[in-house]
Amino acid sequence: QHRAFQTRVQSSGVPDYAFAFDIDGVLLRSSNPLPGAHEALTYLQRHRIPFILLTNGGGKSETERVSELSEKLNVELNVDMFVQSHTPFAEMHEYKDKTVLVVGGDYDKCQLVAKEHYGFQNVVTPGDLLCAYPDIWPFSKVFMDYYKSFAKPLPKPFNPANPAESLKIDAIFVYNDPRDWGLDSSILLDLLLSSQGHLGTLSKKNGDASLPNRGYQQDGQPALFYSNPDLWWASSHPLPRLGQGGFRVAFDGLWKSVTGGAKLEHTIFGKPYQPTYEFAERRLRAHWKALFEQVGLNDPLKRVYMVGDNPESDIRGANEYQSPHGSKWRSLLVQTGVYREGAVPSCEPTVIVKDVGEAVRWAVEDAK
Ligand code: G3P
Ligand code: MG
Repeated sequence: QHRAFQTRVQSSGVPDYAFAFDIDGVLLRSSNPLPGAHEALTYLQRHRIPFILLTNGGGKSETERVSELSEKLNVELNVDMFVQSHTPFAEMHEYKDKTVLVVGGDYDKCQLVAKEHYGFQNVVTPGDLLCAYPDIWPFSKVFMDYYKSFAKPLPKPFNPANPAESLKIDAIFVYNDPRDWGLDSSILLDLLLSSQGHLGTLSKKNGDASLPNRGYQQDGQPALFYSNPDLWWASSHPLPRLGQGGFRVAFDGLWKSVTGGAKLEHTIFGKPYQPTYEFAERRLRAHWKALFEQVGLNDPLKRVYMVGDNPESDIRGANEYQSPHGSKWRSLLVQTGVYREGAVPSCEPTVIVKDVGEAVRWAVEDAK
């Protein structure tokens, strides 16, 4: 076991490779640690081989998530080695003084992340809108006690009698998996068919009865950002569960029916996309530097091993990533999450391994 983990280090005593670990389906299933996860991470820490956690999950602050992960995996972690789906939203400064709708997650956790951790000044959630105007989506009245337990006053009232002068939403951020697809879809639809983002209005053209299915014309509607594309994710249920991508494709179906197939502008963050991997590599190199800066080396990081369970996010992202730093990423697909042993992965990894422990053993051998 120890021999298998004998690592090659440069004469300077630091490794020229590192790891990026996906979380759901690799280290955890829901909140239950997977076998070998603790041993794999603590081994790397003992041998000062850097790693980061790169997840399409989210829904709470980086600090809260990291302290939960440290406790569940019994491994010392910190936020400089952690990237989650909506972490890059914190750098979208052009929206900080605007009014934004934050969708998804439990209670008001994502609203607090946006406001208190990322600095967005005017944050509204679908729950706030439902509590202020229950008729906006009558079928969620049954959940009113839940929403009332955390709803906040709106930054500006929504006045159905004079909507053009009332609440205006400038951008929509889907932070995490929506819990109430009906309420969230209805509000997204209202805003994306509105005039200039004023809730309760219809764009002058969309309101034109002569257009089929209300039609759709660009009329200053809010920008739409999703934090990840995942159609499936590995919870503690034996079969994969629908993720945020499930909500997005369902909404795309609604949009097609309502508008007769108009193009819906939106931006999707997270794995497998290049910007996410660039963001992750910046975080990994900063973490590497913090670990070894006393050696005063320029950064020798040449290879990164991405360990994931989802061929469409973890594997495709690592395979297709073009590092601006010239590092080579190899993809290791585990059989403990979305990907099931024996299936043909939709994106071919460097190697298929049983679990995270075997992934680390394989990589350490490969790095020699
Ligand atoms: O919401 C979590 C899910 O989308 C996947 O998370 O950690 O497997 O990237 P992860
Ligand atoms: Mg996963």
